[in-house]
Amino acid sequence: MSEHIPLARPSWTEGMRDAAMATLDSGQWVKGPHGRAFSQEFAEYCHVSYAAPCNSGSGALIAALRLLDIGIGDEVIVPSMTFIATATSVSMVGATPVFADVHPDYWCIDVNDVQKRITEKTKAVIGVHLFGQTYDPALIELCRKNKIGLIEDAAQAHGTSVLIGGERRMSGSLGDIACFSFFPSKNMAVGGEGGMITTDHEAIGSRMRSIINHGRDGTLQSQEVGTNMRMSEVFAAIGRKQLEHLDQWLELRRNTAKQYASAIDQNELITAPSTFPDSEHGWHQYCVKVDDAAHFITYMSGKNIDARVFYSTPCHQHPVYASHPQHDAKIDVTESICTRLVAVPIHHGLTDKERSRVASALEDYA
Ligand SMILES: Cc1ncc(COP(=O)(O)O)c(C=O)c1O
Repeated sequence: MSEHIPLARPSWTEGMRDAAMATLDSGQWVKGPHGRAFSQEFAEYCHVSYAAPCNSGSGALIAALRLLDIGIGDEVIVPSMTFIATATSVSMVGATPVFADVHPDYWCIDVNDVQKRITEKTKAVIGVHLFGQTYDPALIELCRKNKIGLIEDAAQAHGTSVLIGGERRMSGSLGDIACFSFFPSKNMAVGGEGGMITTDHEAIGSRMRSIINHGRDGTLQSQEVGTNMRMSEVFAAIGRKQLEHLDQWLELRRNTAKQYASAIDQNELITAPSTFPDSEHGWHQYCVKVDDAAHFITYMSGKNIDARVFYSTPCHQHPVYASHPQHDAKIDVTESICTRLVAVPIHHGLTDKERSRVASALEDYA
C-alpha cells in the first residue's frame, strides 16, 4: 500500500526550531520584540498600517467585533457556509448572526443576498475568503454605501489577493478589520494556536493592541473591556520564520491547483473549483464538487489519500442555533453544495510524487 497523504502537514524547519529555542532561552516569553516585529512584518505583507498578533483566529474575530463596538441588539451578516467560528464569534459578543447564502460558482458570500438581509440593526458583515479565495470586492462597496462595517475572515487566506481598479489588494486590506488564523493546518502557522488582526484605520489600529491586553493603555489603566488574547513570543518568533516562506508555499499550492484542474478536466464526474476573475487564490483547501461525496471519499481512502467534506453542516443548522429564527430556513446554494464539496490534499508539504498520486486519483475517479 502506498503511503498515506494527509490533508494538512505543518512545515517545521531548523530555522523555526532555532527561533523557538532562542526565544525560550532568552526568558522573554511574552510581550517582547518578536511580537512587535511580527506585527510590523505581517502588516507590511498585507499592505496595511496596523497588525496585532493574538491567541487564535476566533479570538481575532471576537476582538474585531468589539473594535467595531458590536454587541447586544446588533445584527451581523455572515455566510452560513463557513467554519462555525465565523458565526459563534458574533454570538460571543452578544450580537445576532444573520445567515446569508454563497455564490453558486465561487462559494464565497453572495453579495446580492447580503444586500437583501441588511436591516436597521445590521452593524457589519463578516465576509469569509473561503478556502483561500477572496470574496467578491463588490461587498466592500455594498458595506460602504450602507455605512456598515466589513470584517474580513481571512483565517484561510494568507497571501491571497484580488485586483481592484488595477491595484493588487491583499487579503487583510479588503475590509475595516481582518482576522487571520495560524491553526496548524493553515497556509502558515506558529507552532500552536494563533491569530492576527489587521487594519488600515488609525482609529481601530490604535485600540487593537489594547483590546487584546485587558483594554489597557500605556499607563496600565484599562480604558475599555478587553482580556488577555496575546500571542506568546515563541509563537511570534516561529510565525516570523513561517512568513518568510509564505510566498514560496503559495506558489507550490498554485502549481498543484493547476495540475489538479487539468486532471479533473478529463473527468466529468468531478467539478473543479472556480476562481473569481482577477483573484489570486491561496488554495488553503482544494475542494472538488461531486454528487456522491461518500463514494468519492471511500474511493480516495482506498488510494490512501485523505478527503473530507467542508462544511457538511451549514452554520445555521448547528444545534447551537436551534432557537435561531433561521435554523430551519432554506438557504438554497449553501444547502445544495454543503454535502458535495470535498477537500483533497493541496498543502505545500506535498512531494511531487504525492501531487501526482492525487492528480491521477482525480483523473481516474469513476
Ligand atoms: C473561516 C474560519 N474562521 C475562523 C477560524 C477560527 O480560527 P482558529 O481555529 O484559529 O480559532 C477558522 C479556523 O479554522 C476558519 O477556517
